[in-house]
Amino acid sequence: MRSDVEFLDVQIVDLTHDGQGVADLGERRVFVPGALPGERVRLTLRRRRRQYHEADLIEILEPSVERVEPPCKYFGRCGGCAVQHFSYEAQVTFKQTIVQEALSRIAGVEPEVWLEPILGPQWNYRRRARLGVRFVKGKDRVLVGFKERATRYVTDMASCRVLVKPLDKLPGELSDAIGETSLRQRLPQVEVSAGENVRAAVLRVLNDPTEDDLSIFRDLGRQQELDVYLQRAGPGTIRAIDPSGVGQLAYSLPDFDLTLHFSPTDFLQVNAEVNAALVTQTLRLLEVQKNDRVLDLYCGLGNFSLPLARHAGEVLGVEGESGLVARAAGNAHLNKIDNVSFIAGDLNQLEWSFMRGAWDLVVLDPPRSGAQAVVSQMAQIAPRRIAYVSCHPATLARDAKELIKSAGYQLIAVGIADMFPHTHHVESIALFEKSKGI
Ligand SMILES: C[S@@+](CC[C@H](N)C(=O)[O-])C[C@H]1O[C@@H](n2cnc3c(N)ncnc32)[C@H](O)[C@@H]1O
Repeated sequence: MRSDVEFLDVQIVDLTHDGQGVADLGERRVFVPGALPGERVRLTLRRRRRQYHEADLIEILEPSVERVEPPCKYFGRCGGCAVQHFSYEAQVTFKQTIVQEALSRIAGVEPEVWLEPILGPQWNYRRRARLGVRFVKGKDRVLVGFKERATRYVTDMASCRVLVKPLDKLPGELSDAIGETSLRQRLPQVEVSAGENVRAAVLRVLNDPTEDDLSIFRDLGRQQELDVYLQRAGPGTIRAIDPSGVGQLAYSLPDFDLTLHFSPTDFLQVNAEVNAALVTQTLRLLEVQKNDRVLDLYCGLGNFSLPLARHAGEVLGVEGESGLVARAAGNAHLNKIDNVSFIAGDLNQLEWSFMRGAWDLVVLDPPRSGAQAVVSQMAQIAPRRIAYVSCHPATLARDAKELIKSAGYQLIAVGIADMFPHTHHVESIALFEKSKGI
C-alpha cells in the first residue's frame, strides 16, 4: 500500500439514487460505494471533482443495522446489483423514499395514498438480460457477464443469482463455448431471454461462423435447452441456427386469461411475477368500465393493452417500434381479442390525430426519458384517470408536475413495484385523476 494515501473517518448520511453512500466533507459531498446511511466508515479519496468527491471504502468502523452479507460472490465488482448489502426491507423503503423525494423536490406534491409495494421473488427473477462478452488475453479466456461497477470491462463471473433458472448458469457456459470458437474475439454481446417453456440466446457476431463454430453453438443449445440465434448486423439480421427447431417464447397473464408471444430481442418487462401484479394493479386503479375507451401509450407488445381490452369497450395501443406493434397485433389475434388496435409512431412528435378523440382512460409506460410531449397534450384529451408506470422517478416527477399544474389532475396514489431487487432501478406506478370542476 502507498504510504502517502490519506484516510478519513466519516459518517454516512445518505444514499445516492444509484446506491452509493454519501458523506458531507465540509463544502463537498463525497460518494462512497458500498457504504450505507448511519455507518461510520474509513475511506480514501479516489477522485476530487469541483462539485463532489469520489472515494473508496477502506473499512466499516460502525456498521448499519440494515447491513447484510451480500450472498453473491461477485457483489462489489459486478455493476448489476448496487444494494445487495442492504436488507431487503431497507431496499424497499429506500426505493419508496427516492420516489417520494423526487415528487416532492421536482413537482412539490405528495400523493393522497401510498400503495403497498408490489414485491416478487428476491432472487432468480430476471427473464431477460444483455450480457457483455470480452476475450481477455491475460486470462486467455472469454468473459461473459454484466459490466463491472467501476470500469467498462465485463465482470469475470460464472453465474448470476438474479437471472431466472437455468439462465443463471449461462455466463460460465457461454464463456466456455464461445472460447472454443473462432469468434472468441469477434462476439461482443449476448442477449438471453426466458419464456415459460422456451429459452433463447442471441449472439451478436462480427464475422460469419465456421461449420465448427456452428456445431459448438448447437451443442451449447442442446445441453442448455436453449434456442441459439446469431445476429450478424442490425436487428433485422437475427437468425436461428436451427430454424426448424426453435420454440415460441411466451408468457401468460393468468388474471386475464392471456398468453403473449415475444421475440428474443423484444422489449419485455423483466420480472414475470412483478409484471403480472403491476398489470392487475394498474387495471384496479383505473377502475375500467365496460364502455370505456382507453389509450395505452408506449404499449410494447400489448402487455397492458390486452388486459385492458378484456374489460374496456375499446383500446388503442401506440408504440414506436414497428416490430412490437406487429407482435401486439399478433397477440390480440392469438387471444381472440377484437376491440383493440395498434399504431406505430413516435410519441415525441406533438401532433397526433388520436389525441382529438374522446378517451376515458390513459396508460403511460414510457422509457426513462418520460412522456413529456404526450403529457403536454393531456389537457386536450382530458381522460378521467391516468395510470403512469415509470422506470425513472425524476421524469415521473417532471411529468406529474405538468399533469397537475397545467392539465388539472390530482395525484391520487403512488407505489413502487420492485421489478429489480438488489439493483438501484426503481419502478413505480402513479394514478392521476381529473380534478372535479376542471
Ligand atoms: C417501458 S417500455 C413499456 C412497454 C410495454 N408497455 C410493456 O409493458 O411491455 C417502453 C416502450 O416505449 C417504446 N418507446 C420508446 N420511445 C418511444 C417513442 N418516442 N414513441 C413511441 N414509443 C416509444 C419502446 O419501444 C418500449 O416498447
